[in-house]
Amino acid sequence: MATCAQLSSGVWMPLLGLGTWKVMAGEISAAVMAAIDAGYYHFDCAYVYQSENEVGEGIQQKIKEGAVKREDLFIISKLWCTFHDKPLVKGACQKTLAALKLDYLDLYLMHWPIGFKVQQQRCPWLSLWESSSTIPSNTDILHTWEISSAAAMEELVDAGLVKAIGISNFNHKQIERILNKSGLKYKPVNNQIECHPYLTQEKLIKYCQSKGIAVTAYSPLGSPDRPWAKPEDPSLLDDPKIKEIAAKHNKTPAQVLIRFHIQRNVVVIPKSVTPQRIVENSKVFDFELTKEEMATILSFNRNWRVCAMSTCKTHKEYPFNTEY
Ligand SMILES: NC(=O)c1ccc[n+]([C@@H]2O[C@H](COP(=O)([O-])OP(=O)(O)OC[C@H]3O[C@@H](n4cnc5c(N)ncnc54)[C@H](OP(=O)(O)O)[C@@H]3O)[C@@H](O)[C@H]2O)c1
Ligand SMILES: *[C@@H]1O[C@H](CO)[C@@H](O)[C@H](O)[C@H]1NC(C)=O
Repeated sequence: MATCAQLSSGVWMPLLGLGTWKVMAGEISAAVMAAIDAGYYHFDCAYVYQSENEVGEGIQQKIKEGAVKREDLFIISKLWCTFHDKPLVKGACQKTLAALKLDYLDLYLMHWPIGFKVQQQRCPWLSLWESSSTIPSNTDILHTWEISSAAAMEELVDAGLVKAIGISNFNHKQIERILNKSGLKYKPVNNQIECHPYLTQEKLIKYCQSKGIAVTAYSPLGSPDRPWAKPEDPSLLDDPKIKEIAAKHNKTPAQVLIRFHIQRNVVVIPKSVTPQRIVENSKVFDFELTKEEMATILSFNRNWRVCAMSTCKTHKEYPFNTEY
């Protein structure tokens, strides 16, 4: 499982990582340890997932056992939308580092281009997500990115807190604004976006790769455990045509859905807390989808999103109002 994508910063990022969203307390440290045993080196975390403490426990345990070294791991986290104001960026990153029990991250992403205000009176019984998601703030993505007297994304690299910085859920116009910025010190090395056969993202992937920005596919299995799933929604894992391709290769639908990205040189981060699935999802380097199969899978596109963030459609930085 040594297959990696090279980032513009020169370092290598493992093509396969473990997602850590929607995990219950008590299950994710064991899942992280099972993943390290199965050969995963890359873990996709975020402050807003509220699981970084336990992810960190799993990592520490495995380092202590001598199963893995910190420098062999590739740990990602993300700046939540309530921390876009320049003076808040560094503290947010430090909180994540403390929870993960790490002294640096391999990659830190702006989780979304949209900024939120923190509510004055936070209802403690509301989740972080609910209490913050509807109040837009006017922070400018360029300011959150740039180095200045106050802390921001670029300064985290200079301070040694993170090895590289990137973005998530940015459209190509938003990326272009960052790349165009005069005095840009560090380019985003990665854009993490939703991608699977129902949202193939051909234009955005082509754009990012042409700019030297590695792409990561999130919700590669269609996120069947997303909290807002409706019975009438399409299901990738049950798609008869995906099943047919899987059967031809003696593989599972999940393995085909993961392999699809690897053949596009796209990093992929399926989430599972089930040890047997964690292993299953890693066995994707011993078969190859044919050109025809890749084209067939790409033809399933229907621009269907797991994470449409539709409550934020009127936010000035809402990323999905343009084609790509
Ligand atoms: N940047 C962003 O805005 C953003 C948004 C969404 C997600 N992400 C990241 O991407 C990761 C993956 O996306 P996701 O969590 O939305 O969904 P996903 O990886 O597409 O799907 C996860 C679901 O699939 C199940 N599953 C995993 N392997 C399976 C297999 N081999 N066979 C059958 N079912 C299987 C899991 O069940 P069990 O766990 O019960 O095994 C879980 O219910 C997240 O965890 C997160 O790290 C980022
Ligand atoms: C970026 O710069 C190019 C070249 O100057 C220009 O054509 C383009 O409109 C700019 N893009 C944005 C989003 O500002």
